[in-house]
Amino acid sequence: MSLVKKEVLSQFAQDTIEGLGSHPKTISSKYFYDTEGDKIFQQIMAMPEYYLTRSEFEIFEHQGKEIATTMTKGSENFNLIEFGAGDGYKTKLLLQQLLNTGVGFTYYPVDISKNILQELEKELKAEFPQLEVSPLNLDYFEALKTLSKLNTNKNITLFLGSNIGNFHDHEARQFLDQFKHQCRPGDRLLLGVDLKKDPRIITLAYDDPHGITAAFNLNLLKRMNRELGAHFQLDNFSHHTFYEPISGEVFSYLVSLKEQNVSFDTLDLPISFEAYEMIHTEISKKYSIRELDVMASDLGFAVQKHFTDTNHYFVDSLWEIKA
Ligand SMILES: C[S@@+](CC[C@H](N)C(=O)[O-])C[C@H]1O[C@@H](n2cnc3c(N)ncnc32)[C@H](O)[C@@H]1O
Repeated sequence: MSLVKKEVLSQFAQDTIEGLGSHPKTISSKYFYDTEGDKIFQQIMAMPEYYLTRSEFEIFEHQGKEIATTMTKGSENFNLIEFGAGDGYKTKLLLQQLLNTGVGFTYYPVDISKNILQELEKELKAEFPQLEVSPLNLDYFEALKTLSKLNTNKNITLFLGSNIGNFHDHEARQFLDQFKHQCRPGDRLLLGVDLKKDPRIITLAYDDPHGITAAFNLNLLKRMNRELGAHFQLDNFSHHTFYEPISGEVFSYLVSLKEQNVSFDTLDLPISFEAYEMIHTEISKKYSIRELDVMASDLGFAVQKHFTDTNHYFVDSLWEIKA
């Protein structure tokens, strides 16, 4: 698009111009997480319908000790990297168990949200004064490049909360393949994944009756208003999701409720929307244990153990890079 007024644009502005200029319109879910989005996500995690957080919390609460021991087996000092760490609500259970093992490590939480990383660092300093923390305010793919440069210690990586589900299957495979090439044989990965289950349970988690997931999605428009000088009228858009149980993907959209033009102070021309045109904002993919086993094997990882919650809603799957 040759609509740009200002010469130096942030990555968010560039991606927005590209995403809203394409068909179908799209914006990456990584842009959900500004200070406002971080707060709304914490409300989502506390909702009764958002079983993901509760399930993974239960796994760490009851099996955290075994996970920590298996993860660090045979390791001396190691780097603990976490992709998309967020507020660390569940990770703190694991950190305690890892500290209990007595093996030395530095924790590298990676997150695109500077705000949440600052909050996390502050809380960790207070709760675990002995823990060495080195936050990385980077996108996953930028963070991948730093992995091999950290030091010669073993890398143990956490990718929790079903963050991997924000990739389509082929993208998840590409990401894990790149990850593998930045690590060494014997390095381990704990992958927290939402499992396929009754579609009604999944649907409610992404379209709750309180309107919290809707507010989370609509915050993208507010963020464009705040940061890019956009003039979205929130009442003219609504939140829509659906779960496709064969692929296991939840699709989230913002729906333009009428034909409209939205101007941006950073662009010369407005972005036009047809009535009921969608902006695709997120996918949240669910897997079966069998699909995870196949993916691990295809990509050259050995599955060490699947840790599931009592409902079998969620799995934390421990993988090791094969020699
Ligand atoms: C769904 S939250 C989950 C947080 C935490 N892992 C949990 O399980 O509670 C996703 C987190 O990943 C971060 N994130 C999303 N996309 C990212 C990306 N492409 N690169 C780095 N961080 C990202 C967000 O800022 C957010 O804190």
